[in-house]
Amino acid sequence: MTILSLFTLVACSKEVLERFGGFLQPANFPAPVYRFRDNKISQAGFELGRKLFYEPRFSRNNTVSCGSCHIQSAAFTQHGHEVSHGIDDRLGRRNSPPIMNLAWMNTFMWDGGVFDLDLQPIVPITAHEEMDETIENALAKLRTLPAYAAMYKKAFGDTAINTTRTMKALSQFMLLCISSNSKYDSVQRNQGPRFSDAEQRGYIFFQANCTACHREPLITDYSFRNNGIATGINNDQGRYEVTLNETDRYKFKVPSLRNLSHTAPYMHDGRFITLDAVLDHYRSGIRQTPNLDPLLANGIAMTDAQKADLLQFLNTLNDPTFLRDSKLSEQ
Ligand code: HEC
Ligand code: HEC
Repeated sequence: MTILSLFTLVACSKEVLERFGGFLQPANFPAPVYRFRDNKISQAGFELGRKLFYEPRFSRNNTVSCGSCHIQSAAFTQHGHEVSHGIDDRLGRRNSPPIMNLAWMNTFMWDGGVFDLDLQPIVPITAHEEMDETIENALAKLRTLPAYAAMYKKAFGDTAINTTRTMKALSQFMLLCISSNSKYDSVQRNQGPRFSDAEQRGYIFFQANCTACHREPLITDYSFRNNGIATGINNDQGRYEVTLNETDRYKFKVPSLRNLSHTAPYMHDGRFITLDAVLDHYRSGIRQTPNLDPLLANGIAMTDAQKADLLQFLNTLNDPTFLRDSKLSEQ
């Protein structure tokens, strides 16, 4: 191959990678639940959403953006922080969850307190310990910048900057934060190398003990459960705080286990620093608190060898393409 044809080949494949594909349902995923007909994804809407996601003007003193607590290299979590750190270094009470595969999720937050993705950003923008700003103020700041007028026009037809458009654009960006290219996915799609023996053993153990809640292929069933961790120091009661239903006390949304190697620490309050500690919890740390899930009443018996295999399997859920996808990075 000549140097010239090699060059064109590289140039072409780069172009293919950068072409905007919109929302593509991965072959091994179910149909999404987000109502795309109310918010059609376009390249201009997505690009505006991305700019807004990394926009610090949403915070009172212009220092904190969505991307401050949802960092791409950490699968859009705030790696290393047990609870979120926001404006003026104020502490939240919960661990930042990933922005990942949200098109398949129909309730948001650890307690499901938000049911519409297009309304979710209002919470962090106005929360005292997150961005501490008003929507009107934030939009007024954006209106002073000609670049935004042009981007809203491209996305929505005219230069008006309002709440609905802003929320819809943010959703468009977040909906395309899709993690579907882990080794696990390529095995499911018969695309690449198979599982090693240890990964396969770990997978069988996982299916027998974990998928009742961490359901394939999203690795969560999005239900609310009490997985037997001890009551936290701030006595977060999870789903109960939304429904005031006794049977919801201490239940939290089952998180996906994709990209775990990049999202430590774990649980709604980041109490476990390592996966080893999480597995020890399921093996021997289950507490009998109200509404403990019956599946975990006796813990999950696990030999050291099974634990090692399970860790190998969990590693196949990491998706380096997602963490490095330049389309999702601050431009
Ligand atoms: C100060 C840190 C912080 C900032 C800034 C922040 N978030 Fe979050 N985000 C969190 C935390 C913590 C949660 C979980 C809150 C809860 O469960 O009560 C969360 C939850 C979410 C969720 C729900 C995910 C799920 O799995 O349920 C979405 C979506 C989200 N944030 C998007 C955004 C957007 C968009 C912005 C910017 C407008 C933003 N966040 C700004 C910390 C932050
Ligand atoms: C009865 C349902 C249920 C079963 C079974 C279950 N989990 Fe969980 N898991 C949960 C819930 C609920 C949470 C979140 C709890 C919280 O934060 O308060 C969770 C959290 C986790 C986390 C932390 C993830 C994060 O991002 O913070 C890991 C890791 C985990 N589970 C792994 C496993 C493994 C491995 C198994 C099988 C050995 C398993 N789980 C079995 C319900 C379950």
